[in-house]
Amino acid sequence: MKILGIETSADDTGVALIEASGKFGTDFSFEILANVVDSQSDLHAKYGGIYPNLAKNKHKENLPRLLQQVLGGPDAPQIDAIAVTHGPGLEPCLWTGINFAQELSKKWNIPVVPVNHMEGHIIISALTSGNDAISNFKFQISNEIQFPMLSLLISGGHTELILSREWMRYEYIGRTRDDAVGEAFDKVARMLGLPYPGGPHISRLALEARSSKLEAHFKLPRPMIHEKNFDFSFSGLKTSVLRMVEAHSPLSDELKRQIAREFEDTAADVLISKTMRAAEEHGAKSIVIGGGVSANKHIRARFAEECEKAGILLLIPPQEFSTDNALMIALAGYFRAQRKEFPDAHSLSANGALKLDNTGN
Ligand code: KG4
Ligand code: ZN
Repeated sequence: MKILGIETSADDTGVALIEASGKFGTDFSFEILANVVDSQSDLHAKYGGIYPNLAKNKHKENLPRLLQQVLGGPDAPQIDAIAVTHGPGLEPCLWTGINFAQELSKKWNIPVVPVNHMEGHIIISALTSGNDAISNFKFQISNEIQFPMLSLLISGGHTELILSREWMRYEYIGRTRDDAVGEAFDKVARMLGLPYPGGPHISRLALEARSSKLEAHFKLPRPMIHEKNFDFSFSGLKTSVLRMVEAHSPLSDELKRQIAREFEDTAADVLISKTMRAAEEHGAKSIVIGGGVSANKHIRARFAEECEKAGILLLIPPQEFSTDNALMIALAGYFRAQRKEFPDAHSLSANGALKLDNTGN
């Protein structure tokens, strides 16, 4: 099956084309025919966050150009289905992708498969772990994903622990009670005068601190780390950083690096402690890490260490597939298309707060 993927849930516009065959767990393999992303971060950098209407207009402008790039010519393509993100995310942005998919569906007379963005993150992490992110590459899935599989989803809008007792079934076991961890990275970056999205900038400063053995002389609180539940909270941590910044303003470059390092350590400590405890309690055999924050090198390295110690298989995507892209939507779309999940054109709609479910639907 050839699947076209379309992603417009936040500020990245993505279009991808894959050819996939086989069933999960037996003979599944896929080839990336094209995968392009237009990140709007420059546009949003000066505002320190995403402006939905600006993002929506940018998606509208980007989609025809990216599609042209992916198809490589004017001929009607041999595509079996169009997978499009229908949630969660910013609704004006989601609608842009959905409307575009529906137009193509009418024009080419092929079905649209709606995809949950978070399922896309889980599936791409689970299936591309251990590979290099090169396009035109054929993936023969070799790792044996073992269940129960615990997914930690960490992005700009989500921080969640989800248990799958089988492929494509999801039970929420923990989530953030306030800010998402990516949002905390972005807000702390802003306090340090760094552009949006802040995660990669914090990560760079923290790495500079570590490689020059620059230790922080202060400790940030590790929110909820000792509580028995699997929920998170990042807003108090953000406030602690703000107090520190206000007390020492203007910040020296050295203090900025110390704050970045201590903040990254704190985020990693909390994510690891909750995830490993959840894995133990639920007997997880694999841990999936997905979403934009899973691009963080320090967090990746710490999870690799912990999973090795615990004898649990770690599934984490190549860095480039951590952040939003349409390949993940095409992949999830393939498994959904196999189940013939094609709603009629009128029932397809954007749902900003869409959840994953445990029914296998
Ligand atoms: O999954 P994603 O691309 O978009 C959403 O669905 O939200 O995640 C974006 C988030 C942003 O908050 C960004 O700062 C964060 O991922 N991020 C990182 C890194 N790269 C991206 N956070 C920490 N370290 C990174 N290297
Ligand atoms: Zn995402």
